[in-house]
Amino acid sequence: MNLLQFDSGHAWMEGVCAFWNDRLRSDPRLRTCLPTGLTPIPVYDDMVRRVSAGHASFAEAAVFALDEFGGLAAEDPGSTRNTLARLLIERVDLPAAAFHALDVQAADVNRTCERYDAAIGAGFDLVLLGIGTNGHLGMNEPGTPPDSRTRRVELHESTIQSSARYFPDRAPHRLPRWGVTVGLRAILASKEVWVLATGSGKASIVERAFHGDVTTEVPASLLQRHRNCSLFVDAAAGTRLR
Ligand code: F6R
Repeated sequence: MNLLQFDSGHAWMEGVCAFWNDRLRSDPRLRTCLPTGLTPIPVYDDMVRRVSAGHASFAEAAVFALDEFGGLAAEDPGSTRNTLARLLIERVDLPAAAFHALDVQAADVNRTCERYDAAIGAGFDLVLLGIGTNGHLGMNEPGTPPDSRTRRVELHESTIQSSARYFPDRAPHRLPRWGVTVGLRAILASKEVWVLATGSGKASIVERAFHGDVTTEVPASLLQRHRNCSLFVDAAAGTRLR
């Protein structure tokens, strides 16, 4: 596990983007899996800025959404597909066909998941992840086995409540209760995995995930066994790390 700790949120963002741009330069066909959440927003903004300035390009790359909420209308602005499109995909030079998202509108969600796993193949070149305060990765909640595939999942109550940030106009009882997520199997099989964490609210789970026991009860702790995983933290999220 590589630890990259930055003094400020700005330095953290610059660091993540510099490494990401480096990966895109060495492999323009980079296949990347991306999360939503609040954490990566500044990173996506800065990548847009870099592409606009001609310093970065997604022209030959491919992007896969990490997960998707179930039960939403296709046009719901809070869906992962629409959020990633708005924050990054539509603002960079990635060809539309190179953006893969989970189609939960399909009649057969299991088939959607099988197709997604087939498209993922042996894993991604790079996976960017946020971390939930319960240690979840994507929608892989505590208790998820390491060989889990892309599948439908029921969300934990804490995840449902914290998803209110994506759906400001919804009453709590109307928040999505299930979703579809890339499984831990594909994440753990990927060549490189980056966990992004900022803010003091993540300090405790970051410590548990990276210094605690490796256990399915904290899905992020399974990354301790990944051969090329990096943790990018700002000062606040890294206060409890040694
Ligand atoms: C969203 C996702 C989630 C978030 C996690 C952290 O696609 O994968 O697992 O990464 O809940 O969310 P933030 O970044 O909002 O703290």
